[in-house]
Parts: sequence; C-alpha cells; structure tokens
Amino acid sequence: MKHTDIKELFAHADEFVNGSVTVCGWVRTWRDSKSVAFIELNDGTSLKNIQLVIEKGSLDENEVKSALVVGAALQVDGVLLASERNGYEIGVRRLAVLGGCPQDYPLQKKHHTLEFLRTIPHLRPRTKYFEAVFAVRSRLAFAVHKYFQQHGYKYVHTPIITGSDCEGAGEMFRVTTQPWKTDAKTEQEYYAGDFFGAKAGLTVSGQLEGEYSALGLGRIYTFGPTFRAEHSNTTRHAAEFWQIEPEVCFCDLQDIIEIAEEFIKFIIKDVMDNCHDELAYFDERIEKGLLEKLEHVLSSDFGKITYTEAVEVLKKSGKEFKYPVEWGSDLQTEHERYLTEEYFKKPVFVTDYPADIKAFYMKQNADGKTVAATDLLVPGIGEIIGCSEREVDLEKLKTAMTKRGMPLEAYSEYLDTRKYGSVTHSGFGLGFERMIMYITGVQNIRDTLLYPRTVGSL
Ligand code: 4AD
Ligand code: MG
Repeated sequence: MKHTDIKELFAHADEFVNGSVTVCGWVRTWRDSKSVAFIELNDGTSLKNIQLVIEKGSLDENEVKSALVVGAALQVDGVLLASERNGYEIGVRRLAVLGGCPQDYPLQKKHHTLEFLRTIPHLRPRTKYFEAVFAVRSRLAFAVHKYFQQHGYKYVHTPIITGSDCEGAGEMFRVTTQPWKTDAKTEQEYYAGDFFGAKAGLTVSGQLEGEYSALGLGRIYTFGPTFRAEHSNTTRHAAEFWQIEPEVCFCDLQDIIEIAEEFIKFIIKDVMDNCHDELAYFDERIEKGLLEKLEHVLSSDFGKITYTEAVEVLKKSGKEFKYPVEWGSDLQTEHERYLTEEYFKKPVFVTDYPADIKAFYMKQNADGKTVAATDLLVPGIGEIIGCSEREVDLEKLKTAMTKRGMPLEAYSEYLDTRKYGSVTHSGFGLGFERMIMYITGVQNIRDTLLYPRTVGSL
C-alpha cells in the first residue's frame, strides 16, 4: 500500500506541504460539527498524530460516518496544509476504511489506567504511553548493540535451555516433557526419562557460557531473555526479563566499573538523541524533571562506596528502615534507595560485598571476607547492574562451590576454564527492563514488557 509514514510527513513537512499525500493509520479521537469533522490519526511511526480535516459536503455522508470511529483503520488521500494551530494537517479528499471497529473496542477513552491496560496487553501498543515505551525499548536495544559493536565485542547467543543454575539461587524454571505421573522411583530415574535425559531448566543468566566465549574471543556480550522463578511480587521483578551481559578478559573490577559507567552513559545519550518526542512525553506525563535527571547522569561521575562504608552510612543516617542494617546481611531496596537517592543523589557503585551473600564465581578479596563485586544502584529503582571480577583460582573456586553445596561434577566445564589458560576477567549483567524504567520514569516493570510474566500471572 503506497503511503507516507506520519513521522516522515512531520520530518519533511516543508517538502510535502500543499502537495498530495496518502497516509494510513488508526483513529485515536475524532470531533464532529455541522460542516467539518476532525480526526486524530496515528500510524505508530510517530507519537504525534496527524489531524485530518474533512469538509463534510465534499465526501459521502455515510463514508464520513464510518470513519468517525475510535480504533478504525483508515487510508486517506489529501493535501498537507500548514495550520496555525496544529502545525500541519491533512485536508481530506478521499478516504477508505481499511478496518472498522465496533463499539466494544476497549480503548474508547483518551486516558486509561495502567492497571486496566495490563488486562489488555494485545491492545496496549495502540496507546500513546505504550507507543512511547516500545519506541524507547527498541532504540535502547539498538544502542546496546551499537556500543558493544563499536567497542570490539562479539555478540554471542548463549543457550536458553540449560542444566546449570548460574546464580545458584535455585530459581530456575524446569523444562520437561515428562507427564506429571511416571513410574520413576527416584528423582534421578525421573530426570533420566526426560527429554534431555537430565534435569533441565530455563537459564537465569548467560554468564557461564559468556565466560567460555570470552576466554577465546576476548570480549563478548549477550543480550537475551533470562528467566527467574522468584516469588518477588514487586514493581521491579519479572519472571521473564532481558539481560545484557558483557564479559571481558584481561580486565579487573576497576576496569569493568569504568566500562559499565561509559556504557550506561552511552546508551542514555543515544536514546536522548533519538527519542526526543518520547522522552519529552515521559518528562511531562510520567516523571517531572526526567530530562534534567538524565542530563545530570551524563555529566556527573557515578558515586563509589564499599559495602562496609555503605553499612556505616546507613547506620548513621538516622533513618527508620523496615529491615535492620547489619554488616553481613544483604542490602534491601530501601537501603539501596537511600544510598542512591538521598546520600549520593546519582548512580552509585557499591563494591566489595560480603562473600556469603554473593554468588560462587566472584573473586575472593584478600581480606577473606569480601568479594570483588559491585552492584550499580540508581535513584528510583535500586540495583540495575550486578557485576564482578571472576574468581580464577581453581582451588578457591572449588572451595566456594563446595561451601554452597554445589556438585563440582556438574560444573566441570566451568572448572576447566580455570585450568586451561586462566586469566583475570570480569563482567556484568544489566537488567534491560530496569534500564528502560530508569530512562523513561515508568514505575512498574510490567509496563516495559509486551507480555509481562510475573508470579501468578501468565
Ligand atoms: O545481579 P544478577 O542476578 O546478576 C547476574 O545474573 C550475573 N550473572 C550477571 C553477570 O555478572 N553476568 O542480575 C543482573 C541484573 C540485576 O542487576 C537486575 O537489573 C536484573 O538483572 N534482574 C532482574 N530484572 C527483572 N526481573 C528480575 N526478576 C530480575 N533479576 C535480576
Ligand atoms: Mg544482583
């Protein structure tokens, strides 16, 4: 169907003006009067609608009536006109209804609550809010690839079905073709009879295979879906979310922290340069001061503090926290948010966490208590990056795994990499949806995903 994208129309309006144009799209709203009717048409290419102006005498009455329907799909021929009030509008000469839309179409109002829109995920992309979210999501994904491709990283595709629980937190979804009842007498027998002849699940992280790749390819990144059967029913947890995981050889914790900061600034800048309308909309409607916040992130150095210092800061804060702060216990979201929102007022890397609350693969520090790991915390959200230098000492690694009750045989490939040409390497995982929340001000992770999967809701 030959037509011009509405985005193109606005971008090159000076060339199109007073000429014939054809556009396609859906009716967002309409207004009618005796002699003129107005339609706000949107085709998904631009947050801005184009206004159609219909001189009623010039078109068939029934035809006009069938087009004045919220949700209907139209093809329109007309002339692009400069208008004082709207910038540009189309004087309609001919219109065709491509798809009618009966009265039970749920998006009749101009504004719907996000809760309501979550009940109709298949129709959400037809609203301005989700058009803006998915435009930013798309550009942000492109920016991620752009950064790594420009910096010599290879994009690797790590398996989605796997046998190893990378984070060791036991939050893997199982993958099975076994019926719910089998003759198996033991767990072992049950899994032996399964599709892979072994217990399998959906990956919680591509890190382990990412490390194998980096230890040959030098610098890699993954960007794909990861899955966690966490029972955390919060605005920041999804059971299916996308993760970006670079892994870099000949790189220690300080080096990877520099990379993470540069990367975060790069992708924010890229979205700011390419999603003006969307960010302006979020700034106005979702988070006042969003653009200023993002500018501030670009122009300031991220904060740095050790976990041990952070615990002191929290204890001295005079704040009443729901969870007590004690050295050795994990930082809760309320603690993370205090540090980043009130103490630093900008993104902050908290480093050197107690080994006991972190994963087995992190490099053990000389103090025998902490690991060379960092979480990047940002205002409004808390943790968006989990990062560490990896333990490369085979014996220390085995000890850490044994301490966590991990079966060494199941991780023999991982241990091999510490036997054969082991080198200092580091990596991190960025939660893609949390990054979208940070850039847009969207408050609930459910509104960054096309189909959010959360506990109790498919
Ligand atoms: O801190 P995490 O668990 O780190 C890892 O998975 C490492 N293997 C990463 C690495 O070093 N390669 O998760 C990384 C990030 C978190 O900081 C958070 O942003 C996001 O993934 N994340 C979630 N996002 C949405 N829903 C969930 N349930 C999430 N769990 C983690
Ligand atoms: Mg983490």
